[in-house]
Amino acid sequence: MQILLINIKELLQVRTNSVSKVSGVEMAELPTLKNAYLLIENDIIKDFGTMDSLPNLSPDKKINCSGRIVLPTWCDSHTHIVYAGNREQEFVDRINGLSYEEIANRGGGILNSAKKLNETSEDEIYEQSKARLEEVMQQGTGAVEIKSGYSLTVEGELKMLRVIKRLKENYPIAIKATFLGAHAFPLEYKENHKGYIDLIINEMLPKIAEENLADYIDAFLETGYFSVEETERIMEAGLKYGLKSKIHVNQFTAINGIEACVKHNAVSVDHLEIVTDEDIEVLKNSETMPVALPSCSYFISIPYTPARKMMNAGLPLALATDFNPGTTPSGNMNFVVATACIKMKMTPEEAINAATINGAYAMGLSDTHGSITVGKKANVIITKPIPSFYQIPYAFGSNLIEDVMIEGCLIS
Ligand code: NIG
Ligand code: FE
Repeated sequence: MQILLINIKELLQVRTNSVSKVSGVEMAELPTLKNAYLLIENDIIKDFGTMDSLPNLSPDKKINCSGRIVLPTWCDSHTHIVYAGNREQEFVDRINGLSYEEIANRGGGILNSAKKLNETSEDEIYEQSKARLEEVMQQGTGAVEIKSGYSLTVEGELKMLRVIKRLKENYPIAIKATFLGAHAFPLEYKENHKGYIDLIINEMLPKIAEENLADYIDAFLETGYFSVEETERIMEAGLKYGLKSKIHVNQFTAINGIEACVKHNAVSVDHLEIVTDEDIEVLKNSETMPVALPSCSYFISIPYTPARKMMNAGLPLALATDFNPGTTPSGNMNFVVATACIKMKMTPEEAINAATINGAYAMGLSDTHGSITVGKKANVIITKPIPSFYQIPYAFGSNLIEDVMIEGCLIS
């Protein structure tokens, strides 16, 4: 099956020689082709070029993309799409003056979601989660990471990871599963941190490995949650089962967590609303991808990741949604890209690099996703007719997507 896209006004993120990530000043360059064609064969990008070099082809289907921009689908490397219910009441409580921390201290927050999840059947969680997955695919996401972490019990964490496995089996989109047993301490372990970490390491991890349910391991390394030492134990235990880490860190406080993550070769460090000069130095000589989550900053009114400072230091940066019921009830990567431009002062070129190739890197998918490269997955967004790709962040509340192709299939 061949599909040919012709008369593309501008084809973005064309990388003839595939790169795994872009860093520092490279992030400002977004290679594009104007008046282009793109040939898809089955689920793979077969060829692309400018219209004046279009070979004589007889594809099964032709799509005229006149006036439209085509770009790789978004790579959302940090989500909690699998959850039960919602936290609307906490949203209103914050409007009325309570902080995220105050709500968590009253038994709300992650423990509130855990209670709901533990009262909900696997089938029902699957139904609720698949609706969110379908929504983000329509919004142009073509690869996504999904975490567990809203049960905090052995059976419940397995239940969440099994839901992620079902999503993997039933949808064409690439999904990476992350085990986040270390998301918070359940009430009964409030005074017994060691006991809960032992449960994660000795009970949860072996079962997860046996059923092959996770690709990565995560922990919430934060004051009041998991300490540096506790997170190090988790990362080391994960590695014994071949699970590299992707860690929630520096959301509210900087406690030298990034250094520990880099030391343990974490694939990514995520959140980074608070970043010190020392954190930047540590990241400089590493392969760890920093990941910013601007919708979270927006929703709970906390600082934005200092993107400019980090890029000026030569670092790469990825953008992801953090889709979850507490701090970011949105999986819209278009909004993330716009917010990165508007609030973090990233240029559209930088934000698109961060949301495609660097997002792919942050979930180990940059060989197959994140750019228009021959041999990569045929994952593209086709926009409506727009004046230029600057519209994507500029018209921040509008839906500019006409169609989304994931692994060669048009999904809308
Ligand atoms: O990434 N920070 C930790 N975890 C989630 C939110 C948890 C919640 O409030 O449900 C996050 O923001
Ligand atoms: Fe998160």
